[in-house]
Amino acid sequence: MIVCSCNIISDHDIRGALVSTDDELFSAAQVYDCLGCTVRCGRCSHSVKRILDERPAQASTVIDQSDGARAASRRRGQA
Ligand code: FES
Repeated sequence: MIVCSCNIISDHDIRGALVSTDDELFSAAQVYDCLGCTVRCGRCSHSVKRILDERPAQASTVIDQSDGARAASRRRGQA
């Protein structure tokens, strides 16, 4: 889903930036800087903030998926 129509940035782009950078990103401006663009009209800032706030839940989801993949491998006798 497009979050920022000024820069044509999707929620997937933002989540990818959060995962791929070694820097902690705390604001929409930092996210946009990481993506090589700037905040223009600012209408997207609440949506970007919401995605930033979702990070801990996503991290546990990734861990859960990883655990699920390991469990599936064990069931197949591959672990
Ligand atoms: S919608 Fe993101 S800067 Fe305008």
